[in-house]
Amino acid sequence: MAGTGPRRVTFRLRRFEPGTDREPRWEEHRVEVSPGMTVLDGLWKVKELHAPSLAWRSSCRMGICGSCGMLINGRPRLACNTQVAELGGDVVTVAALPNFGTVKDLVPDLGSMFETHRDLMPYLLRDDPAEQDDPTREYRQTPGELERYLQFSYCIKCGCCMAACPTVATDPHYAGPMPLGQAQRYNSDSRDGGFRRRRETLSGGGGPWRCHFAGECSQVCPKGVDPAKAIQLMKRDLVVDLLRLRRRRPPAPVADEPRGTPREGIAAPPPRTATAEG
Ligand code: FES
Repeated sequence: MAGTGPRRVTFRLRRFEPGTDREPRWEEHRVEVSPGMTVLDGLWKVKELHAPSLAWRSSCRMGICGSCGMLINGRPRLACNTQVAELGGDVVTVAALPNFGTVKDLVPDLGSMFETHRDLMPYLLRDDPAEQDDPTREYRQTPGELERYLQFSYCIKCGCCMAACPTVATDPHYAGPMPLGQAQRYNSDSRDGGFRRRRETLSGGGGPWRCHFAGECSQVCPKGVDPAKAIQLMKRDLVVDLLRLRRRRPPAPVADEPRGTPREGIAAPPPRTATAEG
């Protein structure tokens, strides 16, 4: 049927190998694309047919691992989650995510982003050191408490928000939407008691007050996370804390029953039995 068969598209790719190339260069390769083909599929085709040394990062091919963030037709996107057909036109332009250094070709150096992320302790912090090191049971949490942070937990750390942020582009001291959004994700978790420790980490000056609320981070997030909102919530919490109006509540207590005990209304899983397959 006309219009649904294979067509030829030009992949315009920014190539750069630090230490070898003096400057980035653009290469163009024409490949046949078929309906349903993603930009990642197209890159594999280019590599197979024209440019075997082309480098990029990818793994899951299903928008989960966050490794294939690239600048595609001027917008940060996941290559595995972007169909060539949805871009329209006969040219697909691909470069490494901006606002990061380049490891090679389409591979951004996300090291500084992950360092900041780690510094902000993106995990549950408990008041009791013993419980921190060796958790004994599940922690209580109501559905309403889960809702407070759930959407922020969908972040896959692809770096697209950082690449789109005009403040990250111009302010080297700014922590950026991914680390801040994830810090707020844990600050908002009723099982966590780490607000003050994260606040101290941010007192060095890279915190949410540098955000101009352009909102680009939330526009480009491939998982529908709203890091701009997380940053504004963090500002609110810091002000409330400064005014001494923030209620200090201990992190949620452990559940009554030992881990694995069936809850009321929830059937226990059947005991495992050996099968012929083992
Ligand atoms: Fe995992 Fe694209 S390859 S998100």
